[in-house]
Amino acid sequence: MAFPDRFLEELRARSDIEDVVSSYVSLKRQGTRLTGLCPFHNEKTPSFSVTPDKGLYYCFGCHKGGDVVRFIMDMENLSYPDAVRFLANRAGLAVPEEEEGDGGRARKRLLELNKEAARFYNSLLKSEEGAKARAYLEQRRILPATVTRFGLGAAPEGWTTLTDAMRRRGYTELELVQADLSVRGKKGGLYDRFRDRLMFPLISVSGEVLAFGGRTLCGDKAKYVNSRETPVFSKRRSLYGIHLAKNTKRGSIILCEGNIDVVTLHQAGFDNAVASMGTALTVEQTRMISRYAKEIVICYDNDPAGIQATQRALDILKNSEFSVKVLNLPDRIVDGKRVKIDADDFIKLYGADAFERLLQGSENHIEYSLEKLRGQYDLSSTEGKVEYLKAAGAMIAKLASPVEREVYGGRAAEAAGVAREAMLQEIERSRAINAKRQKKELERGETRPEQAAQPVGRGLRYDNVRSAAAEEGVLRLLLLDPSLLADCDLKVGEFSSAYLGKVYGLIRRRIEEKQSVSAAALSGELTEEEMSQLVRITQRPEELSGAKRSLRDYTAVIRTEKLKNETDLLALASRYKETKGMEDGKSDKKG
Ligand code: UTP
Ligand code: MN
Repeated sequence: MAFPDRFLEELRARSDIEDVVSSYVSLKRQGTRLTGLCPFHNEKTPSFSVTPDKGLYYCFGCHKGGDVVRFIMDMENLSYPDAVRFLANRAGLAVPEEEEGDGGRARKRLLELNKEAARFYNSLLKSEEGAKARAYLEQRRILPATVTRFGLGAAPEGWTTLTDAMRRRGYTELELVQADLSVRGKKGGLYDRFRDRLMFPLISVSGEVLAFGGRTLCGDKAKYVNSRETPVFSKRRSLYGIHLAKNTKRGSIILCEGNIDVVTLHQAGFDNAVASMGTALTVEQTRMISRYAKEIVICYDNDPAGIQATQRALDILKNSEFSVKVLNLPDRIVDGKRVKIDADDFIKLYGADAFERLLQGSENHIEYSLEKLRGQYDLSSTEGKVEYLKAAGAMIAKLASPVEREVYGGRAAEAAGVAREAMLQEIERSRAINAKRQKKELERGETRPEQAAQPVGRGLRYDNVRSAAAEEGVLRLLLLDPSLLADCDLKVGEFSSAYLGKVYGLIRRRIEEKQSVSAAALSGELTEEEMSQLVRITQRPEELSGAKRSLRDYTAVIRTEKLKNETDLLALASRYKETKGMEDGKSDKKG
């Protein structure tokens, strides 16, 4: 795309680089130059400089540099013509009639081709050939309205269905290969890139179809096939779901791992979810997000890969302006074993309300606190390191989420120059001490009532919070290890909370009938309120080591509390009798 020279001159004259850059970077004058923190890489000391009289910028750290148009291209994630339009708009200049160059026209054709292909896949999904994909969507509980909102589609089993259809519409072989919709076979013929797959079009903020992700419908080894880089698609500059998430009113963006997570979250009302299509978060992506939200919630899977991805994302976001939260997806317990789940599973198991609570509970001050803590110790001495290790370990041990403990533990170790293993051990030591203390307090009846939280649902309020805390503990233990039931002689009637008693009864029955036991398995028999509360209960920490002992302790607390309650009732009853007797006596005298 070519703009007339005169127009470009005018545009540059009216787009002062100091002005433009200053709206993104805070600059300080240093002689003829201005310096600041580079917006293109993470740094703590400024290596980014702007030379206004030359109209150029350069970073001595990452070596990015250029003129004002280049700056906007990188900053706003725009193509050259779009950056020019952006600046023209800013300067109040009219953009002259575009004389399209070859590059611009080719780009446009590819985008049209992609859009045609997306429409084609979508229509196939709705046709007879889409039956398999529709069945799969139903199984994953993705509703037709959601399919439409995301423009999902189906790539059929055949080898040339899309290629043939697009050729009939006048697209050339070269264009099909360039868009990576077709692949050239050994014998020179074209075949479809995506076959027998559920299609997720990747749509840009301005509504263009940039690429596709295709999830297998036949259990193919490659679970996903994604478009390769094309003239219109750069992986590191794209986010799945951003075309919808950009309109969110939530003020934050939820970053998850999978396309399916994004779709499910939107369907459940979290219209701020995006995913980075199987790659680590990039600086370009964070810059894109920053136009729509000031807060990022990382919601990666709770498995080793997810933890690592969380680490890397936190690194990228370290020096950014974002407020960052890490959302912990609790493991699911199935037959006493921990199973990792993703956002999609969570929503489908526990519902949108439970996810909302998880969002509200996600922490973000730990990083800040750790940094402050670091400042209090002399980390150049061994003594200081040891003290810091203890203090940081104690702080991190309080985090309920294992992902967060690992992530922040690793981070604190690195920052202080101590071994990661030593830090993680210190955290575990601290946790063991906390657990012991908690149990002691419980035994001595020292737990302050407010520590045993009341359920969120009003209908479930606990009358005796001390007993309820122990009752919750029993449920947690049985869900973690159903075989413990053999050591548990509590009766449903001994529970102070009718709700907890009910759950206990259900768990008991399932174990006795040798059915699988997990919070999720009970969902059919619990109301939404009861289910969410159960999820909360299972999220609190519970040690399995010494489980029999804990079970005995919990049982003792429940029975003592019940006894206390009964004696209270007896006392009340006898006092009532006394006063009644007195009154009766009075009336006797009167009469
Ligand atoms: P997941 O395996 O978590 O996929 O990978 P998912 O979308 O959640 O699907 P389900 O729920 O397991 O069916 C997360 C993302 O990583 C990319 C995809 O973008 C996927 O959405 N990915 C995954 C690939 O690019 N290739 C793969 O082989 C697997
Ligand atoms: Mn997944």
